Amino acid sequence: MLEQVLEAVEEQCREERIPMLGPDKAKLLASCVETAKPSLIVECGTAIGYSGLWMLRVLKFLGTGRIITVEIEDANAQRARANFEKAGVADLVDSRIGDAAEVLKTIDEPVDFLFLDNNKDGYFSCFQAIESRLTNPATIVADNVGRAEQMADYLEHVRSHYDSETHWFESRRRPGRRDGMEVSIYRR
Ligand SMILES: C[S@@+](CC[C@H](N)C(=O)[O-])C[C@H]1O[C@@H](n2cnc3c(N)ncnc32)[C@H](O)[C@@H]1O
Repeated sequence: MLEQVLEAVEEQCREERIPMLGPDKAKLLASCVETAKPSLIVECGTAIGYSGLWMLRVLKFLGTGRIITVEIEDANAQRARANFEKAGVADLVDSRIGDAAEVLKTIDEPVDFLFLDNNKDGYFSCFQAIESRLTNPATIVADNVGRAEQMADYLEHVRSHYDSETHWFESRRRPGRRDGMEVSIYRR
C-alpha cells in the first residue's frame, strides 16, 4: 500500500506543483536514514508527505524508529496525515502544525536525525532550536543548499564545525540547473 500511496503523492505533487524532494534526492535521504537507523527523525517541512513516506518506508523495513514532522500550512498537514493513514504508517508519525523553529523547542526527546526542508532562511533557527536534544552523533540532512545565500548562516556553521558533504543533483525538469543536499554528522 505504501508504494501505491507514494506513487500517487508524487503524481499529485507534479500535477499541483507542490514542492517535493523528487526521487533522486529522496533516494539519498532514504540511504542516510538506512545508515543512521534513527530512533527519532525530526522533519521540518512536511508538505503533503512525500519525503516523509520515503523515510517511513525505511523505518518500516528497519522495524524501528519514528518521525515528528512539522508543517506550517494546515491544509498541507491534513493531506499529509491522510496520506500517512492510507499508507498504513500513521502510527509511526507525529504530524505537528506550526512554525518549525517554534515547534522544535517543544520536543524534549533525543533526536538522532534532522531533515531540513522548510523555509530556507529558517534552517539555522531550526538547528539552534533542536541542538540541545541532538544525540552525539546525529545526522542532519538539508535540502536546497544550492540556494546558499538564503541559508549562509546554517551552511557556514555546519561546514566549519562538523563532517559535512554536499551532494549535487541535476534538475530533471530544468536541464543545466542543479541543486544540492548537505549531509552533516553533528558531534558535540
Ligand atoms: C519544499 S516543501 C517540503 C517538501 C517535502 N519535504 C517533501 O519532499 O515532500 C517546504 C514546505 O515547508 C513548509 N514551510 C515553510 N515554512 C515553514 C516553517 N516556518 N515551518 C514549517 N514548515 C514550513 C511549506 O509550507 C512547504 O510545505
